[in-house]
Amino acid sequence: MLSKTIQEALNKQVAMEAASSQAYLAMASWAEIQAGLDGVTEFFYQQSDEERMHMLKLIRYINERGGFAVVPPLEQPIITFQSLQRVFEEFLKHEVQVSESINALVGLSLEEMDFATHNFLQWYVSEQIEEENLARTLNDKLELVGDDKSGIYLFDRDIMVHRNATSKGE
Ligand code: FEO
Repeated sequence: MLSKTIQEALNKQVAMEAASSQAYLAMASWAEIQAGLDGVTEFFYQQSDEERMHMLKLIRYINERGGFAVVPPLEQPIITFQSLQRVFEEFLKHEVQVSESINALVGLSLEEMDFATHNFLQWYVSEQIEEENLARTLNDKLELVGDDKSGIYLFDRDIMVHRNATSKGE
């Protein structure tokens, strides 16, 4: 049985994963329509799906442990961006925040001596290492590319290859 404190903290994480899914969906739509970048579009559609899966995993866990998973309301994320660089900066910023939140949850699970939750969260710890690593690598690449159109073309063409190499795609 989950303590009230852990349950509330896990439900906050549910909301955060849902917000991530929305944020990346908006990035996909921007890339598709405003930027016409097929690779980046696909990348963010998939990222958005992954975040939904992260949310679902938490929901199932909360309910399985005798808690009540609360489906959060939807908030509109940022829907328009000045440049591709801004999109990826936001992506990294977002992932860093998620990692901090997961780390705080891990700390809380130890404080509360909830070892099952601590164990459950290890998957998220590994996932965040991958996600942050991917976001940093893509930001570094884009910094090199700058405003160079052929560079952006290549970045867009290669992003999925890169994603599959860096992330497990879970
Ligand atoms: Fe589920 Fe990328 O944080």
